[in-house]
Order: sequence, then C-alpha cells, then structure tokens
Amino acid sequence: MTTLHWPCETLWERLEPLCPGLSVEAVAEVDSTSTRLLERARAGDAAPCLMVAEHQRAGRGRQGRPWASQAGASLTFSLGLPYAPRDWSGLSLAVGVALAEALPAGIGLKWPNDLWLLDGAGRGRKLGGILIETTGLQGNPAGRYALVGVGLNIRPVDAPDARNRVGALQELDATLTAPDVLQRVALPLLAALLRFESEGFDPFADRFAMLDVLRGVPVRTSHEDPLQGIGAGVDRKGALLLQTAAGVQAIESGEVSVRPC
Ligand code: BTN
Repeated sequence: MTTLHWPCETLWERLEPLCPGLSVEAVAEVDSTSTRLLERARAGDAAPCLMVAEHQRAGRGRQGRPWASQAGASLTFSLGLPYAPRDWSGLSLAVGVALAEALPAGIGLKWPNDLWLLDGAGRGRKLGGILIETTGLQGNPAGRYALVGVGLNIRPVDAPDARNRVGALQELDATLTAPDVLQRVALPLLAALLRFESEGFDPFADRFAMLDVLRGVPVRTSHEDPLQGIGAGVDRKGALLLQTAAGVQAIESGEVSVRPC
C-alpha cells in the first residue's frame, strides 16, 4: 500500500491518448523503478509504463553511482516506452527542458542531465537528475525500449556536509508534494519525448539555452585528461561547447564540474 495518494487514473487519462497501451503504476517500495521496467522489457513486456515508487531500495544514478533518496522526501519515477528517434543525441537535455519548464521558476539545467536549484549566476545546488537507459526490443531490431528515470528532491533534508547540500522543490514552493510534482511533469515529459522522437533536439535547443547554468561559467570536464574552459552553450546536437585556450571544443559525453573562480 502506498502512503501518499498518487493520481494514477488522472495521469492515465491524460497520457494514454498520446501513448496507447500505457499503464501508470504507483508502488510503495521497489529496488529501482528503472531496473523493474528494464527487466520487464528484457523479459518481453515492452508495453509503455510510468512507474512511481515512494521508496527505492537500490536507486541508480549516472555512471554507476547509487541514487539515494529518503522516503517521503523525493519523487522517483521512470517512464519506459518503445522508442525509435533517428538520432538520440540531446535526449537527456530535451527531458531536462520539459521538466524544468513544468516546474516553478528558479530552476536551471546543468549539462548533461542535472536540474539545479539556482542560487545565483553559475551557482546552484542539485535538485534532481535524469538517467536514460535503453534495451533491445524482442522481434524489433529497428526500435529500442527507452527508460527515462527521474529523481527530484521535494523536501529539504539535512546534509552532514554543508558543501554537499542539495536543493529541494519545497524551497521554491512549500506546498509542493511528490504527487503534485508528478502530475505537473508527466504530460510535458511524455509530449517532449514524442516530439524528440520525430524532430530530434532542434526544437529544444533554444529552450535549453534559456536554462543553461554553465554558459559563461568556468568548468572542467571529468575526462581522464580533463579539459578546462568557459561554458559556451550547446550545439544543435546537444554537445557542450567549451571555450578553451585552443578554441571552442565540443564535449559529447561525460560530466563536468564548475570550477571555483
Ligand atoms: C543522476 O545520477 O543524477 C540520475 C539520477 C536518476 C535517479 C532516478 S530515480 C528513478 C529512476 N530509478 C532509478 O534507479 N534511477 C532513476
């Protein structure tokens, strides 16, 4: 039994017309919503599904890191669906744009897939993250099953180390709850995924630029041989552009950190 009231039926009525066959599930506890849906798809059940969990025992973040969230303090959900864009580049940025635009003002995007609560120019705290994974579709070599996993902090929690303080949506609007936030973001997220599937990153590029927290900010890549430069936006495929001593360089993957000035 879930402890919160999740608007599953309302969501299903809004989402299913755009994505026939989609189901909406709310569970009290699971290892990870993304792992669950990935395993289902690998076992042959590739129906579209939005799964939200009140608690994840083994939430997963990017680059193999764990995604820990306290029950009741966050929103954790995954949207899985058969998916076949011509070009996948920029997908996590498009997802970030859809989420940030559906939430209160005061949120920025840190390339490639973090939502930040803004504290000032180039300064902010991580408010949420996006994890995109795919697996093959049985009997359909042309398409894949895509999993868009989203974790958003709702309620502020005490951080043992002040430097690692994260942001929470209730700092922007104290009345927000996890079910409210899911209700706000689910339809824009699905609509953005469908638009990206047919049109790619292009319709999201200018919108990303409005939310880009790295523009004009000194950053360093996390590559083995790190590059340093000033954020100069993203290109039409969603690669991060860095103004370096050797000219503008495009970073297609990996992570970056903001360098203290
Ligand atoms: C990141 O590292 O910033 C991405 C975090 C993504 C976490 C979400 S929570 C819902 C879904 N299930 C998971 O196990 N991970 C994603």
